[in-house]
Amino acid sequence: MAELGPVGWPPAPIRTERLVLREPEARDRTAFIELFASPEVAAHLGGPRPRAELERAVPEVPGRRPGLFVVDLDGAMIGTVTFGRRDAERPGHVRPDAGEAELGYLFLPEAWGRGYAAEACAAALGWFADAFPGEPVVLCTQTANVRSVRLAANLGFTEVERFEEYGAEQWFGAVTTPVASTKTG
Ligand SMILES: CC(C)(COP(=O)(O)OP(=O)(O)OC[C@H]1O[C@@H](n2cnc3c(N)ncnc32)[C@H](O)[C@@H]1OP(=O)(O)O)[C@@H](O)C(=O)NCCC(=O)NCCS
Repeated sequence: MAELGPVGWPPAPIRTERLVLREPEARDRTAFIELFASPEVAAHLGGPRPRAELERAVPEVPGRRPGLFVVDLDGAMIGTVTFGRRDAERPGHVRPDAGEAELGYLFLPEAWGRGYAAEACAAALGWFADAFPGEPVVLCTQTANVRSVRLAANLGFTEVERFEEYGAEQWFGAVTTPVASTKTG
């Protein structure tokens, strides 16, 4: 996936009710390695990467690029929310010129089931709507990734199409007006 493109980056940290969305820092390195090494996180993303390989490959300050937010709970990273540009040669598009902004999210398993991903993604979509007014955002996730499809629907994404890629059925959706989660609990 290509980088997001011209945008003022990094923005000031974004505060939600429980979370902060901010740029990565050196202290997040362990959590980044944890994310990519976790079998649960990678279950629908091609499988985990060996921890030893990650220890060698992950830079001192990982993930510093326009469109990548670290999600911080009480001073510790619990996941990432990312925007990139969807490659033209992949299936799934809503614009004739392709290059759609695409949302991605990865959270550590211990942070699942608390609404943190929904809260962080809603805030990130709000930032995106200000930075790129009127642009749609797309999202692609395996149909089997039930939590992810549920989160996408909760954020206001609607299904555009399904297709086969990487040997699995993919759910491809889009949102034009970001809608924040209204669920509480
Ligand atoms: C996809 C993923 C981010 C979803 O995480 P999640 O925690 O299930 O998502 P949400 O933030 O929407 O949380 C919903 C859950 O929180 C619960 N919840 C608790 N308090 C809540 C609150 N205040 N607001 C909303 N939901 C709340 C909901 O009831 C729901 O629980 P359930 O899972 O038992 O039904 C996570 O599973 C993940 O990181 N997966 C691996 C990476 C991946 O596959 N990414 C997709 C590639 S794009």
